[in-house]
Amino acid sequence: MTATIGILTGGGDCPGLNAVIRGVTKSAIRKYGMKVVGFCDGFQGMIEGNYIYLTEEGVSGILTEGGTILGTSNVADPFNYYVEDENGGSRKDLSGTCMQLYEELGLTALICVGGDGTMAIGARLSALGANVVGVPKTIDKDVFGTDTTFGFDSARATATEAIDKLHTTADAHQRVMIVEVMGRNAGWLALESGIAGGGDIIIIPEIPYRMEKIVEAVNGRIKRGRRFSIVVVAEGAAPEGGDKVYKKEVKKSHDPMRLGGVGHVIGRELEELTGIECRVAVLGHVQRGGTPTPLDRLLATEFAVKAVELINEKRFNRMVALQGSRIASVEIEKVMGKQRTVPPDSDLVSFARAIGTSFGD
Ligand code: F6P
Repeated sequence: MTATIGILTGGGDCPGLNAVIRGVTKSAIRKYGMKVVGFCDGFQGMIEGNYIYLTEEGVSGILTEGGTILGTSNVADPFNYYVEDENGGSRKDLSGTCMQLYEELGLTALICVGGDGTMAIGARLSALGANVVGVPKTIDKDVFGTDTTFGFDSARATATEAIDKLHTTADAHQRVMIVEVMGRNAGWLALESGIAGGGDIIIIPEIPYRMEKIVEAVNGRIKRGRRFSIVVVAEGAAPEGGDKVYKKEVKKSHDPMRLGGVGHVIGRELEELTGIECRVAVLGHVQRGGTPTPLDRLLATEFAVKAVELINEKRFNRMVALQGSRIASVEIEKVMGKQRTVPPDSDLVSFARAIGTSFGD
């Protein structure tokens, strides 16, 4: 009997999702003669029975496209699904609906492409009897168990390009330019784009900042004749003993708080304390858009082929992972509920310190 596998893309989008959809579809059909069902808008499609059969023709030409042809959702957790009602809304467990569809379609396995939230849902569905294989994506690079996620390299390139551009205007006006980048509770994106873009001060969630240290770094540069500074700040950063800054609550989401605004807080305080003109640029969702870099296309394709290979070998409930230069896999259960953040004593942080980068600590 022909095996049928399902695939969905969950959580916030990132460049490379279409490369995975293409890689899964092509290798499943060509190499193993499987059928592939794509669920629309992440787990929402499983809840609503909204799906399409994917063909080689259907995925042709999507390798270079950003976004996801299947759509995604970061509010549709079947175990904790927000349903609006006359009392203002309540949460329901609709995992049974997903499992019913899984059975009805006769799926051999379900490929869940997503971040830590999607992996956690996948692990819970596997406990209900689904055969799940996870593929880690996110611009935040915070999924546990893998050295990196696809999407990160593209976001890092976008953020670095933005920092390069902000450099010239900061220099021309002799200003301090604060660049706020995404990353949730992990500082990878700020750290790596900050180093690549030559940021003078890099503020990440893993190293709480002290305003006086940022002031010291900016004044130190002025003393050395450098009349502008670039501060790269991760959206999840917080001052020593202080709180993170949130900009929005997405009621329907199982993880409702959205970070944002710390760049403005730092900009305001820095201008008051130094008298130097500050400007703030919040890069926002532009970091999630556009065509994936070659590295992300490669990684996404490798992850995709490996995911189908795992299914063919009946090695279920695992997440594909990059370990060194090897495409490996880890138990999905060991990944759930954990986040991979920047070790404050990591080589990358000390290399940056060695070239004079301040971490505001
Ligand atoms: O996880 C990816 C990410 O872009 C984070 O960096 C950011 O905090 C969050 O998603 C933004 O979520 P939303 O798309 O709901 O605004």
